[in-house]
Amino acid sequence: MGVDAMAAGAALTERHGELQGRPEQFELLGRTWSLLPGVFAPVHTASTELFSTWLPYPVGGAFLEIGSGAGVTAVSAALAGCAHVTAVDIATAAVANTQANARRHGVADRVRVLRSDLFDALDGDQRYDVIYWNSNVIDAPEEFEYLDELQWAFFDRGYAAHSRFLSQGPKLLAPGGRMFLGFNTLGNKERLRVMADGLGLELATYRRRPGAVGAISVELSLLEILPAC
Ligand SMILES: C[S@@+](CC[C@H](N)C(=O)[O-])C[C@H]1O[C@@H](n2cnc3c(N)ncnc32)[C@H](O)[C@@H]1O
Repeated sequence: MGVDAMAAGAALTERHGELQGRPEQFELLGRTWSLLPGVFAPVHTASTELFSTWLPYPVGGAFLEIGSGAGVTAVSAALAGCAHVTAVDIATAAVANTQANARRHGVADRVRVLRSDLFDALDGDQRYDVIYWNSNVIDAPEEFEYLDELQWAFFDRGYAAHSRFLSQGPKLLAPGGRMFLGFNTLGNKERLRVMADGLGLELATYRRRPGAVGAISVELSLLEILPAC
């Protein structure tokens, strides 16, 4: 029997929002990170660590992370040698968390953190060598109502944000730039594929691995978004 993605999303929202037993800091990728309340918690998922390890960071170049959450990937990009990192999130607590971890790891000078709905707050003239989003993969119905900011980490109503990510992201790539989406099997891959097809794009699996988000077994995949051949 398939997993009910909406029920899984509700369980994940509860788990990531739970304050009891939630650490104020955690260890990942050999570093210690601050964790603020109300932010997607990398301690409850394999995705942050895997995608942060798999991504080909553009050393000396510009990296854009959509939905930076606690900031692990954006800060790792700066520490890996990206000259300019832009990290955006729609959730205010996530913006504060990414800023805190950029300061904690001494890279606040090259990690710009903005509150933004996808690309909205960005200067449209800026170009990026890599654009990445570990997305809110659950395809929520049109009538879904967001009741708190943490639900943005799991649910995308009508897949509107995925549609905009695919249509707007490629326009912000520098020549030779690359675009990645962190995805898992709670997401609606078929709907994503139809959207990509309609835009003349292809979803290529860059890396994938069985894993878990919370207590739910999933396959985690880092998809590269490419022009269709
Ligand atoms: C699955 S979490 C990943 C967080 C972090 N990148 C990580 O891997 O630990 C998805 C993140 O995307 C953010 N997000 C969702 N919709 C967004 C949007 N339209 N614009 C910007 N950020 C968004 C959420 O607030 C959340 O922090």
